[in-house]
Amino acid sequence: MTGQVVLRADGLSKSFGGLQAVQNVTFDHYDGEILAVIGPNGAGKTTLLNLLSGVYRPSSGRLELLGQDVTHSPMEHRCHAGLGRAFQVVRPFPEMTVHENVTVGALFGQPGTSLPQARERAYDLLERTGLADQAARAAHELTLLQDKRMEIARALATGPRVLLLDEVMAGLRPGEAAEAVELIRGVRADGVSVLFIEHIMPVVRDLADRVVVMDQGQVIAHGTYREVTAHPQVVAAYLGTEEGLGA
Ligand SMILES: Nc1ncnc2c1ncn2[C@@H]1O[C@H](COP(=O)(O)OP(=O)(O)OP(=O)(O)O)[C@@H](O)[C@H]1O
Ligand SMILES: [Mg+2]
Repeated sequence: MTGQVVLRADGLSKSFGGLQAVQNVTFDHYDGEILAVIGPNGAGKTTLLNLLSGVYRPSSGRLELLGQDVTHSPMEHRCHAGLGRAFQVVRPFPEMTVHENVTVGALFGQPGTSLPQARERAYDLLERTGLADQAARAAHELTLLQDKRMEIARALATGPRVLLLDEVMAGLRPGEAAEAVELIRGVRADGVSVLFIEHIMPVVRDLADRVVVMDQGQVIAHGTYREVTAHPQVVAAYLGTEEGLGA
């Protein structure tokens, strides 16, 4: 694959005490690409995402965002530099309206934005994510699918070039997951590169241009969905796991 690299992880590692949760992880994420990170439970996927978004600093290695070294940058800096993130567990401001929740994202991610501008931008994103008719509802009243949509709208409100998603399909029914897949395709069509963690294999197959497979903290394979699911080490890593390799 050619084109601009939006995220470059070079030998990223993170240990918790004696546990090497992420070990020497290297990959490039290209502009406009939908990149999946998969692996059995405890493989280190969320820890990797936390290294990318700045929740954790790596024990070693380097991270570049749009050509800029952000290895030691705080989360806000990465956000302003173009990195957006939706969290695995959603529930930001339950008493605020859906519109207000997304407005907070717009204010936070784009310094200098006035409140009316942020509100307008938030409303546009609610329309794009199919939530315009829920704008005035309290966030805690949303269904799980609407919650995921709001979380994506909040992350997009910060104006990212790269969007990180941690298991946004978890708990969705198949029809709802298909809607979420369409939403993420739409995000990419708007020029945002997407890196997502996912356990649901049909979603990975349908959505990912390329897949990075982790096991026990390390990248054990990368390539297209077909390539990685045929890889012996990947098959072995998933053997007997709850999620299996499925489709
Ligand atoms: N804050 C922490 N302190 C100590 N150990 C941690 C911490 N976060 C994660 N770990 C450990 O690091 C390893 C990787 O965890 P991580 O959450 O990154 O896996 P994952 O691939 O996201 O798993 P899952 O598919 O279950 O979400 C696990 O052994 C986990 O117990
Ligand atoms: Mg996880």
